Amino acid sequence: MTSEDLVLVAGATGGVGQLVVAKLLEKGLKVRTLTRNAAKATEMFNDKVEIAVGDIRDVTTLPPAMQNVTHIICCTGTTAFPSARWEFDPKPNLIQWGKIFFDPTYRNAKAKNTPAKVDAQGVSNLIATAPSNLKRFVFVSSCGVLHKDEFPYKILNAFGVLDAKQQGEAAIIDSGLPYTIIRPGRLIDGPYTSYDLNTLLQAKTGGKLDVVLGTGDTLSGDASRIDVAAACVESIFHPATQNQAFELVNKGVRPPVMDWETLFTQLA
Ligand SMILES: NC(=O)c1ccc[n+]([C@@H]2O[C@H](COP(=O)([O-])OP(=O)(O)OC[C@H]3O[C@@H](n4cnc5c(N)ncnc54)[C@H](OP(=O)(O)O)[C@@H]3O)[C@@H](O)[C@H]2O)c1
Repeated sequence: MTSEDLVLVAGATGGVGQLVVAKLLEKGLKVRTLTRNAAKATEMFNDKVEIAVGDIRDVTTLPPAMQNVTHIICCTGTTAFPSARWEFDPKPNLIQWGKIFFDPTYRNAKAKNTPAKVDAQGVSNLIATAPSNLKRFVFVSSCGVLHKDEFPYKILNAFGVLDAKQQGEAAIIDSGLPYTIIRPGRLIDGPYTSYDLNTLLQAKTGGKLDVVLGTGDTLSGDASRIDVAAACVESIFHPATQNQAFELVNKGVRPPVMDWETLFTQLA
């Protein structure tokens, strides 16, 4: 990494995204955030980052954000199950919510920000507009993309989130750009931004659980947003992570200092 490098963070206002931005700034790197909401990003990052406004579903909004970018870290996402984040138009009433869950044609016609639109099409749009000399595209995917027919991933994939993540991964790999794909387990630790049990329980590692990486989508369990964000940022410093896809969960006793170099070297 050099002082000329500029990292674009897509999904910077999200749980993992906020932590990625903080970690990049801690390392002294130049950051541009890609956001749909400039006011939210300005309030969050206090003029410490450049802000580009764009929506990954609309490829025409992305080129200005890509100028002089050397790395992209993509932490965008929506909920796995239908929710307000799917941006239904018009907003559904109680009966329409029932239709949304049981009628795929109705659901797809009304939902504007589904996993298919964000994790598959949106990621393809980022790839299509990324600079051809990009040094790394880091993508936050999910555990289970290779085991969609097995419990519990079959349930998680009921509305296609793992299908969409896998399509996003394929677009990245097929692009020929240098990439790192990180497949976290169920996210815990704040900022608590998703609608799930872990958010309700405010589940925490307490900073006591070790980071375990695997290849081939064999691990399952919880993953700290703090460690997922750290892995995204640390990966761009380590050549061993180039063109690798790996899972990340938290298990076991954490050492006093996290040795990312050793963790990443084991992947190669
Ligand atoms: N929750 C889990 O247990 C779990 C497990 C495995 C993997 N993951 C993945 O981990 C990643 C991070 O999760 P998280 O909970 O930290 O995410 P999050 O808080 O839900 O944040 C998602 C981010 O994506 C942005 N976004 C959504 N739609 C967009 C669009 N059309 N164009 C541009 N930006 C858009 C949001 O921006 P706005 O502020 O504009 O909405 C937000 O910044 C996601 O990719 C998620 O799929 C989650």
